[in-house]
Amino acid sequence: MQVFPNLPISLSSLHNSPFVIGPPITEPSQFFGREYILKRIFDVWKYMPLQHIAIVGLKRSGKTSLLHYLRRIIDVSTEQLRPNQRHDWLTPGYQWVFVDFQDPRMCYQESLLRHILIELDMPIPEPCDLIGFMEVIDQYLETPSIILLDEIGAGLTSPDLDEQFWWGMRSLGSNHAGGKLGFLFTAHQPPEEMIVDDNKPSPFFNIFGHVLNLGAFTKNEAIDFIASSPQTFADTDIEWILEQSGCWPALLQILCHSRLTALEENQSVENWQTEAIHRIKPYLYLLKQ
Ligand SMILES: Nc1ncnc2c1ncn2[C@@H]1O[C@H](COP(=O)(O)OP(=O)(O)OP(=O)(O)O)[C@@H](O)[C@H]1O
Ligand SMILES: [Mg+2]
Repeated sequence: MQVFPNLPISLSSLHNSPFVIGPPITEPSQFFGREYILKRIFDVWKYMPLQHIAIVGLKRSGKTSLLHYLRRIIDVSTEQLRPNQRHDWLTPGYQWVFVDFQDPRMCYQESLLRHILIELDMPIPEPCDLIGFMEVIDQYLETPSIILLDEIGAGLTSPDLDEQFWWGMRSLGSNHAGGKLGFLFTAHQPPEEMIVDDNKPSPFFNIFGHVLNLGAFTKNEAIDFIASSPQTFADTDIEWILEQSGCWPALLQILCHSRLTALEENQSVENWQTEAIHRIKPYLYLLKQ
């Protein structure tokens, strides 16, 4: 009997899933909507010195997906996008660093600072501490660079990211790095409500002058998303999905997935709608916004 070795699967031969339920969107071609907030964000970053932005959104509102889009969209090639999908928001050449504070390694100064320097392609000082980090940034940062801090609330609870650390970040964001360093964070509450360990407001958050709320899609954005289904949905289904989802992307993904599966399996309308309503139940708090 002939034994075949395990051949590695080529990722480029795999297609993107039509609907993504659970994980954030990481491929720009699967990111929909958000025209208004994207314009507001990129309009801020068109100008130097770079200014800092806070994105406030509920759980499942689409914060992480937005950050992945921001860091990839400017430099992605048009073949990797949907036809007519916009990507000329900024001139190419910015550097992007994504920090996920839900990753425990990002809650330690040393590994966080090392991660940022690796992403910025900069020398790593030994030891990689706050002083060394600030010196490297001061000395080597030439290109406008944006640091995207996802779920900063988790970072604030870390004892290793102490007040001095946040003062250091504030200093870097206050023209220390020649205005070439911009920060954006996501959180569940606005900057003025962010507090550190000892219940004091952190000085870092005073530099976030632009505060944007992440809401639902507009109706047109939701319709555009639904139309991306590989099988066309009937108008009555589209209306039902729009109404039940309140145009929230997380709910649209679940409902469209249910509809598509039902079409593929020839399920009755009543069946798939009951199942779909059950699936979105944990996220109905979004509709109260
Ligand atoms: N712009 C978008 N286009 C399409 N789908 C989206 C978009 N934004 C979010 N989604 C969908 O909504 C779901 C939640 O998105 P995401 O994980 O980005 O939200 P979050 O606010 O970071 O959630 P959490 O609070 O759980 O971290 C994802 O499964 C994703 O499929
Ligand atoms: Mg998230």
